[in-house]
Amino acid sequence: MTNAYKIAILEGDAIGPEIMAQAVRIFDVLSDRRDVAFDLIKAPFGAAAYFEHGKAFPDETKSVCDNADAILKGPVGLSYEESKKIPVEEQPERGAILPLRARYNTFANFRPILLTRDMAHFSPLKAEIIKDGIDILLIRELVGGLYFGEKERGVNEQGLRYVKETLEYDEQQIRQVLIVAFEQARQRKKRLHNIHKSNVLISSVFWNEILDEVRLDYQDVEVIHLLVDAAATALCLNPGQFDVMVMENMFGDILSDQAGGILGSLGLMPSACVGAEKAYYEPSHGSAPDIAGKNIANPYSMIGSVAMMLEMSFGLQEEATAVWSAMKSVFEAGFTTADLSASREGIQLVSTTEFGDKVVQHLEELLA
Ligand code: NAD
Ligand code: IPM
Ligand code: MN
Repeated sequence: MTNAYKIAILEGDAIGPEIMAQAVRIFDVLSDRRDVAFDLIKAPFGAAAYFEHGKAFPDETKSVCDNADAILKGPVGLSYEESKKIPVEEQPERGAILPLRARYNTFANFRPILLTRDMAHFSPLKAEIIKDGIDILLIRELVGGLYFGEKERGVNEQGLRYVKETLEYDEQQIRQVLIVAFEQARQRKKRLHNIHKSNVLISSVFWNEILDEVRLDYQDVEVIHLLVDAAATALCLNPGQFDVMVMENMFGDILSDQAGGILGSLGLMPSACVGAEKAYYEPSHGSAPDIAGKNIANPYSMIGSVAMMLEMSFGLQEEATAVWSAMKSVFEAGFTTADLSASREGIQLVSTTEFGDKVVQHLEELLA
């Protein structure tokens, strides 16, 4: 038996524990059927951690994450009203997610936007627009920009309250994410869309200057520049033009949720947050308080995040492919969770747990 991979499990809030419960079943199947072992260590994180321990990212959780080979994180956060019960600095977005990203410098966020041809009916886009399905890799810079720049609030000379948030990058931060994007583009269709706003923001002018330096090493990759506002439209009208896209943190936050829209649900959006030494994996979406506790959330994004971990952190390519195939088989058999139910007549609704049951069943068959 090989050594066990140590995985920190951060369940998160609202639908977090529901979808995580289905995702961790994948590790059981793999350790039963393959010569591989996983040591899963649960640790508190998010709003639940704040209410129990007074901190959204407690020290105990930090050390569990420090010692883990990879981290699997469920979505965190509460509804707007519930959030107000937590001091602003400890609200799980500012108090847990951003510190987690900063701690491991997970600068490259891989957000695959994938609908195979036989899942195309989930998309609200017309069939003729996505006849070949959708297959985009959106790479979002994750530890810089507006999210991590200096912030200030106060009262100005005219006695008016003001706020200031700054968009900051150094050249190394931009270069490292661009290199990741060029490498991915080289392995895919050798086409990279650089998404920016250089007609207004000097941060984008600077970003593009660094890109011109980096691209000298990737002359086999075609670069297409697109302003971020135009990119939002293009994602709806002609997503087939995109293969790899790269962009600044805030642009990536917004465009990746829009991408969830063209897939038909945010429940189809897994992600990987990759640093030089450590990676963590999480759905791109939030904790969906509107559907929490009903056992109806789509666990695809969470299970897909496990598949990304298997491949990217552990090199378990065959096992990762089997997980994707197992989920595809559930859809092919006509089953979906409620978020995708409007896509076609005759679809049979399944709960979060039933979706997990079916994935496990297919996976067991595939790995038999
Ligand atoms: P959200 O992504 O939680 O939900 C948006 C919509 O998508 C809702 O209608 C929700 O029901 C639906 N949805 C999302 N995931 C789904 C799934 N797996 N299955 C079915 N439907 C799904 O966005 P929000 O409501 O704006 O945010 C809720 C909370 O989540 C906020 O506190 C926010 O800050 C937080 N958040 C956390 C993360 C994270 O942990 N990485 C990411 C985004 C938002
Ligand atoms: C995401 C989320 C986070 C972000 C929030 C919750 C901090 O929306 O991962 O997309 O804005 O990065
Ligand atoms: Mn987001």
